[in-house]
Amino acid sequence: MKIALINASPKCKESASGALIADFLACAYEKCDCAEIKMNRSKLTDDVIDVLKECEAWVFFYPLYVDGVPGHILSCLKTLESMKKEMGEKYIYAVSNCGFYDGRQCEHSLDIIKHWSRRACHVWGGGIGIGGGGALTALLHLKPGAKPKSKIDKSLNFLLEKILEENSFEKIYANVSLPRAIYKMAAEHGWGRSLANNGKKKSDISATPEK
Ligand SMILES: Cc1cc2nc3c(=O)[nH]c(=O)nc-3n(C[C@H](O)[C@H](O)[C@H](O)COP(=O)(O)O)c2cc1C
Repeated sequence: MKIALINASPKCKESASGALIADFLACAYEKCDCAEIKMNRSKLTDDVIDVLKECEAWVFFYPLYVDGVPGHILSCLKTLESMKKEMGEKYIYAVSNCGFYDGRQCEHSLDIIKHWSRRACHVWGGGIGIGGGGALTALLHLKPGAKPKSKIDKSLNFLLEKILEENSFEKIYANVSLPRAIYKMAAEHGWGRSLANNGKKKSDISATPEK
């Protein structure tokens, strides 16, 4: 069983999707063959297409954008749909992460991948909605299963199990195990730091572009 781990965050580096792939790889170590690929632009390269062809299961790791999926993913899905004959039938899984605390926010975006998988004649394997995505890159150094990532790692282990059994589930959700108020405070601190790094003040958040 070869699994394609698709990093579909538009970020080139330090994405929460990449951190989740690293956690999944730790779970999958010596249990299966995984190929990590980037899908961060709207065009698919020949190399990506070749890897996708040879994998039996595809896992899309992506951020939640405005309760949906980032626009470039839709273009990639359209291309893949047009190639359904040459691709053959695949098991499709999705791991959506969001900036808000509750992973359930990702439900509709998981439905987008689910409906696409059926339309493109693949098998919907299941989806995970992960809340607290803003904390994930900062937690990369933690051992698998350690708090505050323990529930997320548990959900990734469950996903791996289902993929290896060639089995489906519907959707499950997991959050970073931090108190909601602490997560919010840390997120606001992060925004403040990003503003300062870009030479802006807090009041600039509500600025409107000049006409
Ligand atoms: C354009 C845009 C739209 C977003 N929309 C949402 C949203 O609707 N709900 C949410 O919880 N987070 C939203 N986020 C936050 C991202 O989902 C969050 O930062 C995620 O962890 C980024 O994952 P990545 O690092 O893998 O790209 C949005 C971020 C951007 C840039």
